Amino acid sequence: MTARPIIIDCDPGQDDAVALLLALASPDELRIVGITCVAGNVPLDLTQRNARRICELAGRAEMQVFAGCPGPMVRPLKTAEAVHGESGLDGVDLPDPTMSLQDRHAVEFIIDACRSAEDGEITLCPTGPMTNVATALVQAPDIRRKIREIVFMGGTAINPGNTTPVAEFNVYVDPHAAQIVMQSGIKLTMLGLDVTHKAITTPKRLAAIRAIGSPVAEAVAGMLEFYDRHDIERYGMPGGPLHDPCVIAYLLAPDIFMGRDCHVAVETGSELTLGQTVVDWWGVTGMAPNCHVVDHVDSNAFYGLLIERLGRF
Ligand code: RIB
Ligand code: CA
Repeated sequence: MTARPIIIDCDPGQDDAVALLLALASPDELRIVGITCVAGNVPLDLTQRNARRICELAGRAEMQVFAGCPGPMVRPLKTAEAVHGESGLDGVDLPDPTMSLQDRHAVEFIIDACRSAEDGEITLCPTGPMTNVATALVQAPDIRRKIREIVFMGGTAINPGNTTPVAEFNVYVDPHAAQIVMQSGIKLTMLGLDVTHKAITTPKRLAAIRAIGSPVAEAVAGMLEFYDRHDIERYGMPGGPLHDPCVIAYLLAPDIFMGRDCHVAVETGSELTLGQTVVDWWGVTGMAPNCHVVDHVDSNAFYGLLIERLGRF
């Protein structure tokens, strides 16, 4: 089996970091063509720095990391230091990166990588606001045919929002970008809060990660311990939802997930419901589905996969 070529577009962020590590630990299944960074959880200068810190933690300083858009397409940037800490990776003390940041803008890299690929070859994996991806699609509409699928963390169908009562952070930060992706005609798979809130890092699962005993596992445990506190307090759950790794796990083990094809549109005008992913779960509009919306995961299988892969470092 040849490894599936992917581009991870992220805003590390502790959960983005775990998603990167899960992908880096899976070279037989996934070939990371490049890692592109976007402003989101923290500003761009930190997300690109954090992506490089995680690559070096994983011993993968050869990875190509690109900085992209410093803010959303239309809206002012909203960041989430209250969740992720000032650095975006609070909970672990990683050294400043020594690997270089690539000179090309992330959007230019996405376009170049798609144009040099075969039709339907590249899978884009956004785990932050979709500003880079949408900008690439606007600048180079021709790349649509080169993209096999966009598997993204964002939105929510039935689960309440985590940023407003109806909106999830990634889509709320850049709703215009999300709507461009929704209207792109590209095969889309949405891993929103409906599924990620079923992937809870309970104390038992956190202990199992720490018990791996490697520097990588210790770093992951420290990051998640810090990152989870906000959601534990907010939701009263026994742990925090592990959002972004669901994107990578879906590529590695799609059978542990369940969902349905729906029509999805993004609210970009209303101040009250800005960034809401309006998911036609029951098909009441008669509009053709444009997105596979995932709403369930076998969480024991998910954490089993994550722990097995983290154990490979
Ligand atoms: O709403 C959760 C998403 O917002 C995750 O991708 C997290 O990293 C933040 O970007
Ligand atoms: Ca993210």
